[in-house]
Amino acid sequence: MKALLLSCLMWLCPAVVIAQEAPLERVDIDLADRSALQDGARTFASYCMGCHGAKFQRYERVADDLGLSHDQMLKELVFTGAKIGDPMASSLRASDGKHWFGAAPPDLTLVARVRGNDWLYGYLRGFYPDATRPWGVNNHVLHDVGMPNVLEPLQVRLPPAQFDAKVKNLVTFLAYSADPVKLQSQRIGIYVLSYLLVLLGFAFLLKREYWKDVR
Ligand code: HEC
Repeated sequence: MKALLLSCLMWLCPAVVIAQEAPLERVDIDLADRSALQDGARTFASYCMGCHGAKFQRYERVADDLGLSHDQMLKELVFTGAKIGDPMASSLRASDGKHWFGAAPPDLTLVARVRGNDWLYGYLRGFYPDATRPWGVNNHVLHDVGMPNVLEPLQVRLPPAQFDAKVKNLVTFLAYSADPVKLQSQRIGIYVLSYLLVLLGFAFLLKREYWKDVR
C-alpha cells in the first residue's frame, strides 16, 4: 500500500512542478480597440510574416475590419509584393522553414484559438538566453523552442511596460484573426438591438392608436 502511495506521489509530483514552473499571466484584450488591432497587425507584418503566414485571412478583409484604407494596407503592411485580395501568406517555403529551424513555422491564423491568448502572451514574452540552443534562446512556455526571439530588438529598445503593451496588441490581432466574425457580430449586435428598440417604439405608438377607438 505504502509503495503504491509512493509511486502515485512520484507520478503526481512532476506534474505539479511543471504546472508551477510556468504559470500563465492573464491578458485582457479588447477586440473593439482598433488602434491596438492596427498596431498588432503592423507588428505581425514586420516581425512575423518573414516566417509565418495567416493564410486564411485576406489583406482586404483585414484592412476593412481594422479601419485601414487599402492604400495604407498595401504601403505599410504588405512586404511580400502581394495584392490587396491575396491571402496573408508568408514568403517562406515550408520545406526551407523545416530545414532552417528544425520545425516549419506554423500558419498563425488560428493559433489564438488553439493555444489561447494567455499562452501567446506568455510565449512571446517568455524567451530567455540559453547557450545550449541553436539560436541562443529558450522559452519558458514552449520548451526547446525552434523559433528565435524575433521581438528582441523591441524588447531591448522599449521600456518593459511598453514592450508588454506591444505584445498585448499583437495578441489582440491574433485573437481577431482566429475569430474575425466575433468583431463583426459585436457590431451587428448593436445594430440589431437599436433596430429592436426603434421597432418597440413604433409598436407602442401603434398599440395606442388601435386602442384609442376600442375604449
Ligand atoms: C525566423 C523565423 C520566425 C519568425 C520571424 C517568427 N517565428 Fe514564430 N516560429 C518559428 C518556428 C520555426 C516555430 C516552430 C517552433 C517550434 O515548434 O519549436 C515558431 C512557432 C511559433 C508559435 C508556436 C505555434 C505553436 O502552436 O506551436 C507561435 C505562437 C509563433 N511562432 C508566433 C510568432 C509571432 C507572433 C511572430 C512575430 C512576432 C513570430 N512567431 C515570428 C519561426 C519564426
